[in-house]
Amino acid sequence: MRSLPTLFDNNRQWARRLSERDPGFFQSLAAQQSPKYVWIGCSDSRVPANDIVGLKPGELFVHRNVANVVVHTDLNCLSVLQYAVDVLQVEHVIVCGHYGCGGVRAAYFRSSLGLIDNWLRHVQDVRDRHEALIARAEADDGRIDRLCELNVVDQVRHVCHTTIVQDAWRRRQPLTVHGWIYDVRDGLLRDLRCTTTSVEEIGAANAQALDYLGAARPTRLPALGAAGDGEADAAAADDARAKADARLEADAPVEAKDAPTSGRSR
Ligand code: CO
Repeated sequence: MRSLPTLFDNNRQWARRLSERDPGFFQSLAAQQSPKYVWIGCSDSRVPANDIVGLKPGELFVHRNVANVVVHTDLNCLSVLQYAVDVLQVEHVIVCGHYGCGGVRAAYFRSSLGLIDNWLRHVQDVRDRHEALIARAEADDGRIDRLCELNVVDQVRHVCHTTIVQDAWRRRQPLTVHGWIYDVRDGLLRDLRCTTTSVEEIGAANAQALDYLGAARPTRLPALGAAGDGEADAAAADDARAKADARLEADAPVEAKDAPTSGRSR
C-alpha cells in the first residue's frame, strides 16, 4: 500500500480535537517550544512517552532507542541531550525503562538477532556489572525485570557523567536527572530512587537505588500509590537511604570518582 489513509484520517481527527479544545494551540506551538523535560526512553511501541505522563505536544522533548541506552559516544542521544539542556534549558532529564523490554530480554539471553546485538552489548555490560544482584531473583523472568531496573539506574549515571550535564551543573543551571520504570501491564510508573541534582550526588543516588533494588523482593516494584505495598515500599526506601548514607560515609572515594575532571572549559 503506497498510502496509509487510516493514519491520515486519525491525524485530521486528532488535530481537530486539539484545536477545538484550545483554538490557538497549533499557532502558539508553531512559534516556539519550551518543554521542561527531556525523555530518554525505549522505542517499544507500548511506551508512548507523552501519553504516559499526560503531556501535550510542546511539553516533552523525546529521545528513544532500543532499551533506553545512553552511550557516551552516541552522537544522536548526546545531541538531543545537549540541545535540550543548553538551548531549550529543560529542568529535568527522565530516563524511563520498562518491564517486559524485548531489548533487555535479548541482552539477558544473549540472543543473536543481528546488528542490534552490538547495541544490546551495552545492556549485557549492565548485566555483567550487577550479576550478584540479578542472581538474587529466582527465575529468568524476575532476573530480567531486575535487569530492566538496573539498566535504568546505570543509564542515569551515564547521563550524569556526560559533559553536557556536568557543564550545566558547573554553571549552576538547575537540572535534575530521574530514573523511572514503566510497567506495560498496569500503565504505571515506578521511581527507581536514583534522582540526581548535582555532581556530588551521583555516587549517593546510585548507591541508594542499588540498595533499594537489593532490598526489594525479586518481583516488579509496586507503583507509587498502588494498593497494597505502600508501607513495605516506604520502609524499604527508608532502609535503602540509611544504608546508602552509611556506605557513603564509610567510603568517600565513591564521590571522588564522580567528581568532574578539572581544567575543562568551553
Ligand atoms: Co524496551
